[in-house]
Amino acid sequence: MKNFSEEAVRLLLSWYEENKRELPWRGDPSPYETWVSEIMLQQTRVETVKPYFLRWISTYPTVKDLANADEEAVLKLWEGLGYYSRARNLLKAAKVVAEEYAGELPSDKKSLQKLPGIGAYTAGAILSIAFGKKEPAVDGNVLRVISRLETDPFDVSDVKVRERIADELRPLMPEGETSDFTQALFEIGALVCLPDEDYRCEKCPLTSCCGAYKAGAQSDYPVKIKKKEKREEDLTVFVLRYEGKYALKRRPDKGLLAGLYELPHESGLLTKEQVEERFGAKVRPLPAATHVFTHVLWHMVGYEADLSESPNDLGVFFATAEEIEKKYSLPSAFSAYKKYCK
Ligand code: ADE
Repeated sequence: MKNFSEEAVRLLLSWYEENKRELPWRGDPSPYETWVSEIMLQQTRVETVKPYFLRWISTYPTVKDLANADEEAVLKLWEGLGYYSRARNLLKAAKVVAEEYAGELPSDKKSLQKLPGIGAYTAGAILSIAFGKKEPAVDGNVLRVISRLETDPFDVSDVKVRERIADELRPLMPEGETSDFTQALFEIGALVCLPDEDYRCEKCPLTSCCGAYKAGAQSDYPVKIKKKEKREEDLTVFVLRYEGKYALKRRPDKGLLAGLYELPHESGLLTKEQVEERFGAKVRPLPAATHVFTHVLWHMVGYEADLSESPNDLGVFFATAEEIEKKYSLPSAFSAYKKYCK
């Protein structure tokens, strides 16, 4: 890293020593305490976590105590924190640690990451904070701080970026101070280098080496990669019965749902009268439906009709209900209407 140098690390660590908050999981936490606090702190504010953490540790002081707990009781203790899979994973992982590691969390990254709910970030936090190992913990706050220091326009949602930043931070972690290094980065992200326009550079020990500060470009980092908007389309879907079979169509070889089969349809949301006129037959409206693709959202209405003549301008062929079931793959986008082909 060109700006976050060894000298900058010293400035950051001195600042942390003077300015760190007293938090219940700070001091000299066990690997278990670090693990629990880091899981609780995911998606949840520090102030909210404090009482939950204290209650948890007094109810389940060790991994073994947790491993013997009922899921029901664990979830009750978690009540109000949200994202309950975090609590379920803590319990599952505690059972593994009790059985396979005699109740002591393993001290290597690979074994930690095999445990339910522990990814690269949590493993890094446990290793650096509780085991004194040189393994960075890169979360969104750390990415914001680094992107500003380095004026690096990386995409924060890219997992490869987290790996790259971890690789670049690792050699900067001072022996014996890995816990402070990790927590100092969290702390500066939480107290000084806040998101959007809320940065407090007047309190920052790193302005002399911060690329964004020097350029007055703090709010340009981290660079926000615009999500592509979903395109919305309206569709009228037809379930057309003719001589006991149903009209189907093959989709083009390119594009959305390429080469699959579909029920005939037209763009726009047609009324019953428009459809009756279109086919020269009485039709029955079917319930409206939506389908969400990655980049497209379909709003659909549907009509079913018994035709007395084959429609010759739709490019369709006819298939039995059994063939539709077994032979032609109809994408799930049409499942709301496929069930009327019976
Ligand atoms: N956010 C995530 N981990 C944290 C920690 N250990 N201390 C403060 N804030 C955090």
